[in-house]
Amino acid sequence: MERTGIISGVLLSSTMDLKSFYGLDFAERGEKVRLLNPDEVTDHEEIRFAVCWLPDGDAFAPYPNLQMAMSIGAGVDALLNHEGLHDEAMICRVRDPHQADLMAGYAVHETLHFLRGFDRMKASQEARQWAPLPMQPPKHTRIAVLGNGTMGAAVTRALAAVGFSLAVACRNEPREPLPGVTYFAGENAPLRAAEGAAVLINVLPLTPETENILNADLFDRLAEGAWLIQIGRGEHLHEADFVEALESGRLSGASLDVFRQEPLPEDHPFWGDGRLRITPHIASDSTPSVVADQVLQSARELLSGERPSLAIDRGRGY
Ligand code: GLV
Repeated sequence: MERTGIISGVLLSSTMDLKSFYGLDFAERGEKVRLLNPDEVTDHEEIRFAVCWLPDGDAFAPYPNLQMAMSIGAGVDALLNHEGLHDEAMICRVRDPHQADLMAGYAVHETLHFLRGFDRMKASQEARQWAPLPMQPPKHTRIAVLGNGTMGAAVTRALAAVGFSLAVACRNEPREPLPGVTYFAGENAPLRAAEGAAVLINVLPLTPETENILNADLFDRLAEGAWLIQIGRGEHLHEADFVEALESGRLSGASLDVFRQEPLPEDHPFWGDGRLRITPHIASDSTPSVVADQVLQSARELLSGERPSLAIDRGRGY
């Protein structure tokens, strides 16, 4: 395998043509990294890594020497939960600051849409009514952010920049806390951060501990009539508790970008619920040039025998 000084990988996706979309034709650029579609692979033993987005159930089976699987997105849940990927394979993710900025923009937009009553403004416009709404200084509004990774930190920074009071739930105390932001680490951090919040934003990675974390216990901590912004993974949301919280008025509505089943099935009740703002998993996306650079970097690190710097901690789940 080591013989040529070239490293080969395979592109595995059930939904997209990764090579052309992300510009992963490295060999054409004279790089020592070769990426092949499964039908281009002649020597399966030569494949040492895979670049993946939603790989099929049996996608990894033909490659006995796979050492690394890299997600072209920030989330690695589809790889961690993939039964065909052996436990020793390293899992890498893309860490894209532009993707984090997109996420932050979505969170700020949805937050302001709710807090400033833009839906009601639209209704007033349609009725030709001049109907200003009361407003309050952002500092008086608490926003809870669950997660403080690349995405969560960007969301917090952006909301702090427009003046809100931020309460952030994170696993460990941050090394670089933002001034004026309150961080809650460790035991029950999400519950403590959610206390009295008018907006709850979920940017957690999906792990066995975070599945169904958006549940009644958490909703009960929020201010009456709060708003949920769900930009993590569909499996974070306990749907029955969520519907209950909408019915009781604990939540006045939600911006939902991710779902247990995507695309959201046509007959799903969320579609017709006027309290919800539904978007098709577009809160953010990774940038093709960043993906290409980071795939190349990870492949080179693997070739030189280093642990790729974008490898996640499998035990932790991110
Ligand atoms: C998007 O959902 C990602 O994981 O990057």
